[in-house]
Amino acid sequence: MEERSEIIEKYKKKIESLKKHNNFYYIKDKPKISDSDYDNLKKEIIILEKKYKFLKKFGTVNQIIGAPPSNKFLKIKHLQPMLSLSNAFNKEDMRDFIKKINNFLNLKNENLELLAEPKIDGISATLIYEKGNLIRGLSRGDGSIGEDILENLKTLFSIPKKINAKDVPELLEIRCEVYIGKKDFFKIKDNFANPRNAAGGSLRQKNSNETSKIPLKYFAYGFGAVKPMIFKNQSEFLKKIKKWNFSTNPLSETVNGLDQIETKHREIDKLRSTLDYDIDGLVYKVNNINLQKRLGNTSNSPRWAIAYKFSAEKAVTKIKNIAIQVGRTGAITPVAKVDPVNVGGVVVSNATLHNEEEIQRKDIRIGDTIIIQRAGDVIPQVVSVDISKRDKSSTKYMFPKKCLCGAETKKELSKSTNKQDAVRRCFKGYDCKFIAKEKLKHIVSKEAFNIDGLGKKVIEQFWDLNLIKEPSDIFRLDYKKIKKLEGWGELSINNLKKAIDKSKMISLDKFIYSIGIRHIGQENAKILSSFFGSIKGFTKLFESKSRKKTLVNLVDLDGIGETQVYSIDNFFSNITNTRIIKDLIDKLIIKNYAVKNNDGKFSNKKLMFTGGFKNMSRSEAKAITENNGGKVLGSISKKLDFLVVGDSKPTQKKIDQAKQLNIKIILEKDWNKILNS
Ligand code: IVH
Repeated sequence: MEERSEIIEKYKKKIESLKKHNNFYYIKDKPKISDSDYDNLKKEIIILEKKYKFLKKFGTVNQIIGAPPSNKFLKIKHLQPMLSLSNAFNKEDMRDFIKKINNFLNLKNENLELLAEPKIDGISATLIYEKGNLIRGLSRGDGSIGEDILENLKTLFSIPKKINAKDVPELLEIRCEVYIGKKDFFKIKDNFANPRNAAGGSLRQKNSNETSKIPLKYFAYGFGAVKPMIFKNQSEFLKKIKKWNFSTNPLSETVNGLDQIETKHREIDKLRSTLDYDIDGLVYKVNNINLQKRLGNTSNSPRWAIAYKFSAEKAVTKIKNIAIQVGRTGAITPVAKVDPVNVGGVVVSNATLHNEEEIQRKDIRIGDTIIIQRAGDVIPQVVSVDISKRDKSSTKYMFPKKCLCGAETKKELSKSTNKQDAVRRCFKGYDCKFIAKEKLKHIVSKEAFNIDGLGKKVIEQFWDLNLIKEPSDIFRLDYKKIKKLEGWGELSINNLKKAIDKSKMISLDKFIYSIGIRHIGQENAKILSSFFGSIKGFTKLFESKSRKKTLVNLVDLDGIGETQVYSIDNFFSNITNTRIIKDLIDKLIIKNYAVKNNDGKFSNKKLMFTGGFKNMSRSEAKAITENNGGKVLGSISKKLDFLVVGDSKPTQKKIDQAKQLNIKIILEKDWNKILNS
């Protein structure tokens, strides 16, 4: 019997060798071993992974196999961003989804027609047709820039290369999900970890002949850019493209109201195992395309669609220990280290316990037998404790009152609810090295600096080696040292250099988001960026006096409240935080806030709303104003150009204040007039 350490050593060597050959094959275009030797190497690794579950923690081969470095394909900007979906896990989440839509559209709890469609667990792609001819095919990439994989997509027999119909729009972009059938996967399963991985690997082969060897299929589910727009609703769209020979999912169906949503969900969940493709839930989309347009998107996902996931897979295991993790905003999260257990195909050895209260409420103790669950890509959770299996000698778990850095932690009083926070936090900011490391991971993430090749794992590694301790270190990396590290060759270093150089030029809103101030997400970062306009304006936050003055004005902004202001003040009151952000700015070129629409109907105008509109919600009126170049403020001030008074319950005090300041007061119909002028 081989020793565990020997197996690990053997496994690591094989992984290194695979990485090396991937590099020869994908980047240098000069494979050094035959295809069959390469396949054998992959197989050996997969066999080891399947046999020895403890190898999981060394990073799985999934991430390496068939995932060629992304610089291989030409990068092309999407005509319209490819967004993600927000998730629902139960009936309550779906009720909330419908309620939010009703609120936005100013409707009174109407049961809107939704289109329900299986959510395929595959790889998303987009197909662009001009005058009915397939001219471009892209992968999702980061959502805003995709990769040119047209040749590979063309090998899918069932993707129309030409649409022969009179009524095809001049420009037609079809969004689809590419997958490999379960039966087909069975035939090649020794080469890949799962069907999704096989599809991804195949679709991103540099050689389209290779792609054609793996039987890929797809379902078209939506559209991107379409000119002229001829579709009125989603179901009609699907019917039409089916006629044009696209493959659409036969299980799609319109539903009305929560009961039908639940029924459809149960029905498909029952069918799930009989389908030839993996699905992890259903997508529910507002059927009416006009309403979809009105609803629009938040930063990452449409307001008109949601992925309702199937219920979580559960398993029984035992808690070996409870560890503490510190997040980038200082949140202290307890994590149960459990005996490794297979939960729906994935080996789980960590599960979140959320917070101190949760541990107390469920009286969770080290040594307890527990049920854990895992839904989608969400972190596994501890559901319940089997007290009958508890050891008599077990004692209550005492939640540590100190952060891993040694500082005292505290539960704050929420500014908005005046209740004590459930989460305990460390307030040391960059002075706590555990927070600092998490902040770095946030900074390099996709939505922030988006540095290819500098992911969470590399940050961990570079942190341990003292190569990166704070954000500005990213821009003064010692590449000579990196070159000596295992797995880093000239090419990967050059790619990293390029990616870092590229990231130096960043927009103000992304920069603000990257800092990772608590309560300042992507949306708030945009609001702040439009307020400050340039990095120079933003630097007023660094010095205590000018900060206080600036912060007073921030409360005017619609969307920014006391909570956010308090959090910004807190962040920059810490001199280490401020110094670190200053050092980072020195390394960057930060682009001024780009005024979205300079010739919009409300460009350079500041508006405020009071009272409800007849035909739309406040959120929609705000979105329309902003899309037309205007800024929406949340309180009366001299800077305001218009106070827009709606019919329903306007606040008299606001009207009086506006009159006193000589601000122009207009009605809903005047606002509409300007818009349509
Ligand atoms: S609709 C986001 N419908 O899921 C815009 N997406 O998490 C609306 N997906 O990138 C997406 N099956 O690739 C939609 N029936 C389906 C889908 C589906 C799979 C993928 C899609 C998207 C991802 C979002």
